[in-house]
Amino acid sequence: MKKLTIAFALVASATTLSAQGPAAVSAPDTAVRSELPGSIAASEFVSRRQKLAAKLPNGVFLALGAGEPRVDYLSFFQIPVFRYLTGVLEPDAALIMHVQDGQDAGSTLFVQRRDPAREVWSGKRMGPEGAAARYATPARPRDQLDAVLDSMISAGHALQVVGDLGVDPGKTTEHDQYLARVRARHEGLSVTTATGKVAELRAYKSEAELALIKRATELTVEAHTEVAKVVVPNGYEYQVQAMAEYVFRRGGAERPSFATIVGTGENSTVLHYNTNDALLKPGDMVVVDIGASVEGYAADMTRSYPVNGTFSPAQREIYQIVRDAQAAAEREAVNGAPARRMNEAASASMARGLAKLGLMDSVGATYDCSDDGKRQCSQLSLFYLHGLGHGIGLEVHDPDRYYYEQKLGPGSVFTIEPGVYVRANLADLLPATERNAPLISRLRSLLQTYANIGVRIEDDYLVTESGLQWLTRSPREIPEIEAAMAARKGRSTM
Ligand code: GLY
Ligand code: MN
Repeated sequence: MKKLTIAFALVASATTLSAQGPAAVSAPDTAVRSELPGSIAASEFVSRRQKLAAKLPNGVFLALGAGEPRVDYLSFFQIPVFRYLTGVLEPDAALIMHVQDGQDAGSTLFVQRRDPAREVWSGKRMGPEGAAARYATPARPRDQLDAVLDSMISAGHALQVVGDLGVDPGKTTEHDQYLARVRARHEGLSVTTATGKVAELRAYKSEAELALIKRATELTVEAHTEVAKVVVPNGYEYQVQAMAEYVFRRGGAERPSFATIVGTGENSTVLHYNTNDALLKPGDMVVVDIGASVEGYAADMTRSYPVNGTFSPAQREIYQIVRDAQAAAEREAVNGAPARRMNEAASASMARGLAKLGLMDSVGATYDCSDDGKRQCSQLSLFYLHGLGHGIGLEVHDPDRYYYEQKLGPGSVFTIEPGVYVRANLADLLPATERNAPLISRLRSLLQTYANIGVRIEDDYLVTESGLQWLTRSPREIPEIEAAMAARKGRSTM
């Protein structure tokens, strides 16, 4: 560490600001932890920023935190990238880091000032003193952010940023507007997003992060145990949702890690269905895709249940195809193995199963997917439309180390979630080309048996030196699901 450079940078920015207010509150020597067990130590946020600095060019790095929700008094939700780098969970926070020769040459947090009159409404604020103590980082009031930023940029530094930026091309966020104002004050300023660089770090989870993910998976397993008891004929999707989310909050989760999906019958074939207001009809399959978020860290787990408590022969066939695909992928989930092998194994397995039922012509079969017959697509994609899985972490779709290395390594933590969705209108979706005609006609007849059966099975895993850990260990084989649902005997609805 170049200690001299760090000291210089901090003094430089404090001096520039002396006319605007007191110098930054300095951080205590020792890292502090919040009272919650398993939470991230302040020193970890500091070290994440040091690792980020090593990836950045010389200049100023600015991280912008979320503002107070303006609509409907919704709960405050911190932007994951800001939470990752600072841990701060108050609205309108920011962080500036001066990057010099790959080092964090001085970081300052900016938080709202204490304000007893405002705090009556929105709760106690840390203030700069509290933030400096909690996060082992010098802190200033938020209203000094522009002045500090301007003085650093005037010194000729380029700007790297993260925040709620340009995600939706059709929408200008408050952070986009903030940066537009910064650019207007500094003609010719080079501004680059550093989101990708932070993602590279987030792909490698620490022990503390893994502990939180494990807690989230435990709670999600617990929720599915209760869910299996309330999937009943003539219940409602929202009652299943309520049970899952009740268990999350009862166990201390902050919130669901994504919008809870409870899709019955036709809705079981809609991948991100989350209206959750339909009646559970006898004979339906219901896909329940849920995840707890513990201190921001996500679990993500799906089980598919027959509303009747026992699978019909057709449901059983589709379910077993999906479960076999998941097992095939798990066998390839070995430390050091190429990640693509999981995909290849799952897809091959599903294609074999679907071809056996006649839902595909053969393994590897294609169909015309453009009206002019010029483009061919895999028949598997008619039933299996999404990726096999994703990393989990501060976001439910979080980067994993395998995204960057293409192979699994210790600490890889991800989902495996094959699914088969037989949409009732499937035959109508295929272009009516000559080549498609026999497939369309066979599908029409098979849809009598398989229409509206959607099955997804999703589990969370951790790769270790000694093997694959199944974090969401819980019933998932056909007899196990039926046994878990037998616990609901005698209940008609919740
Ligand atoms: N569980 C929702 C998803 O993975 O997209
Ligand atoms: Mn998922």
